[in-house]
Amino acid sequence: MNDKTLIIIKPDGVQRRMIGEIIARFEKKGLKITAAKFMQVSPELAQKHYAVHKGKDFFDRIVKYLSCGPVLAMVLEGPKVIEISRKMMGATFGYNAEPGTIRGDFGTSQTFNLIHGSDSPQSAEYEIGLYFKPEEILNYQMPDQTWV
Ligand code: TYD
Ligand code: MG
Repeated sequence: MNDKTLIIIKPDGVQRRMIGEIIARFEKKGLKITAAKFMQVSPELAQKHYAVHKGKDFFDRIVKYLSCGPVLAMVLEGPKVIEISRKMMGATFGYNAEPGTIRGDFGTSQTFNLIHGSDSPQSAEYEIGLYFKPEEILNYQMPDQTWV
């Protein structure tokens, strides 16, 4: 039950006024938001965030993209939350992502794909630590927890 992931609505999602649309999907699915921060990512933080991609030809582009305007960073919690949220996001490139997914429904771009989500428990732990202090992640119960 304690699985956690870092979700970021990236600058294109904010600029396109899709914050509500995207959060609504996660809420309706039954995932729990335990932290949220509307913030400007610095190039330094973006470089740390994408450290696994350092050296790849798209690294500079994605660092610039993530740090080009405000984002909404969130921690989501729930059983199997990493797998569930990755499925809901869809494949990396908008043109490959299945209809019904966030990336599949709202974009065609390879780079501007609206949302980030951690891809493993290890990356979730690393990424959450970049964006949130432990005390910013709230511990609370929801009344429908046993049903959803
Ligand atoms: P990646 O971690 O592989 O994808 P995901 O976001 O699905 O975990 O890549 C990070 C971001 O880099 C991705 O969201 C979009 C961008 N990207 C490119 O612009 N070109 C590429 O060839 C790849 C693989 C990713
Ligand atoms: Mg990734």
